[in-house]
Amino acid sequence: MYRIVTRRMIVPNLHEFTVEAPQVTAAARPGNFIILRPDETGERVPLTVADWDPAAGTVTTVFLQVGASTAKLARLRPGDTIPTFAGPLGKDADIGKFGTVLCIGGCYGIGSIYPVARALHEAGNKVVALLEGRSRYLLYWQDKFREVSDRVIELTRDGSAGYKGHITRLPEILSLEKIRPDRVIANGCTFLMMRASNVTRPLGIKTIVNMNPIMIDGTGMCGVCRLTVAGKTKFACVDGPDFDGHEVDWEEFLARRKTYNPEEVQPLRKSGCASHY
Ligand SMILES: Cc1cc2nc3c(=O)[nH]c(=O)nc-3n(C[C@H](O)[C@H](O)[C@H](O)COP(=O)(O)OP(=O)(O)OC[C@H]3O[C@@H](n4cnc5c(N)ncnc54)[C@H](O)[C@@H]3O)c2cc1C
Ligand code: FES
Repeated sequence: MYRIVTRRMIVPNLHEFTVEAPQVTAAARPGNFIILRPDETGERVPLTVADWDPAAGTVTTVFLQVGASTAKLARLRPGDTIPTFAGPLGKDADIGKFGTVLCIGGCYGIGSIYPVARALHEAGNKVVALLEGRSRYLLYWQDKFREVSDRVIELTRDGSAGYKGHITRLPEILSLEKIRPDRVIANGCTFLMMRASNVTRPLGIKTIVNMNPIMIDGTGMCGVCRLTVAGKTKFACVDGPDFDGHEVDWEEFLARRKTYNPEEVQPLRKSGCASHY
């Protein structure tokens, strides 16, 4: 069993979740994910490692409460235990010496891109972090990013912090900031990653996205996480989850993500939490 050290809501619906799992800590690398189960009967939930502390043997993730399993996680308290915390899984993020790297994080992706930004900074890159959200109250970890970035830019849809608008403003923001990234990396919701890829394609900037399909085993056996990249079938759990955003078949990806929507709503209906579906 794995003991919960911290579970706290950092912004509405987003939880910082730290678990004692020394076996994961020892091998964790930026870009990896873990698969946990909130209880013995729960489904398997993939979450990206957002930080880890080798001395304490703890791993931190940031999760968005969206459905039944993440609702169970959101009810856990420090000292509680969970039966499964498997990992690290997935390929390591590509941490090279690229020059200037723009790290875009939105929603849980602010947490999940943090170790990537830190590693790129340690590798000698100029790191620019762009934290995106609907409003300023949905942004977090700015101080952590300031420690590992040369510049932290905020982008909110209501303009309450930083630039106002969507990620589609990126070309204009880059021009205003006088930044010409050699690489862009985007983590977070599918639309953020897809739109970031769409605007960087005409600029010719390589863009890496951290794909988040439905997963079951996380080890390349079940095929559920398949997606098409550069016309070839890939499994996000073993071939990714990082891929070139200009090569992902986004239309197919979005369609596959909806496959289990009716089933996902059932447990929420039973608990009276599905009024917004
Ligand atoms: C490699 C990988 C890394 C991930 N890392 C994180 C992370 O660090 N933090 C985090 O919050 N989430 C992450 N996710 C997504 C997370 O696994 C899902 O949000 C979670 O499994 C949903 O479980 P649920 O039972 O609460 O919701 P479900 O009942 O499964 O789904 C409820 C609603 O959420 C939508 N949904 C389902 N899966 C996803 C998904 N993958 N992404 C977004 N919406 C989804 C469904 O379409 C449905 O509308 C990651 C996914 C993958 C594959
Ligand atoms: S989750 Fe089963 S093959 Fe990737």
